[in-house]
Amino acid sequence: MLPDVVDRYARWLPTRANDPRSVFLVAERSATTTDAAPALVGFLIATIEENIPIYRLEEFGFIHDVWVEPSARKSGAATALVTEALRRFRTLSITQVRLETAAINEPARRLFTRCGFRIGTIDMLVEL
Ligand SMILES: CC(C)(COP(=O)(O)OP(=O)(O)OC[C@H]1O[C@@H](n2cnc3c(N)ncnc32)[C@H](O)[C@@H]1OP(=O)(O)O)[C@@H](O)C(=O)NCCC(=O)NCCS
Repeated sequence: MLPDVVDRYARWLPTRANDPRSVFLVAERSATTTDAAPALVGFLIATIEENIPIYRLEEFGFIHDVWVEPSARKSGAATALVTEALRRFRTLSITQVRLETAAINEPARRLFTRCGFRIGTIDMLVEL
């Protein structure tokens, strides 16, 4: 990644957040006392992307990021975020949702498999 990745992400995010068909979700942990605010423990960022114009499928949903704070993991937050993102994409008449995750990221692969994802294409790369 580039050294100024945080700045670049901060510039990219608002442009897509303003797209009414983007799906930006947060997960909150309920407040433990009545006067405390709920704690933000996770988020999901997804947008609608266009295919190049040679395919029947003109556009697809793309999940860019899912993150859950380590202290809040293994309680179903990510499953709920992904399930809700898929529900919202369905209401937008999106018929396919894609994502990329590292092959070694086993928790993520289990999460997405549980939510119905299968391996589509396999990326191959070589460092030059
Ligand atoms: C991958 C990641 C998003 C999963 O988040 P999570 O909130 O822990 O996910 P869930 O709680 O929905 O599921 C995780 C596990 O907890 C289990 N679980 C869910 N609710 C549970 C409960 N109430 N009690 C016990 N276990 C539970 C799930 O079955 C699942 O088990 P598995 O991993 O053995 O299949 C999280 O680890 C993370 O943020 N990682 C870093 C970022 C990342 O890799 N993102 C994905 C790539 S974009």
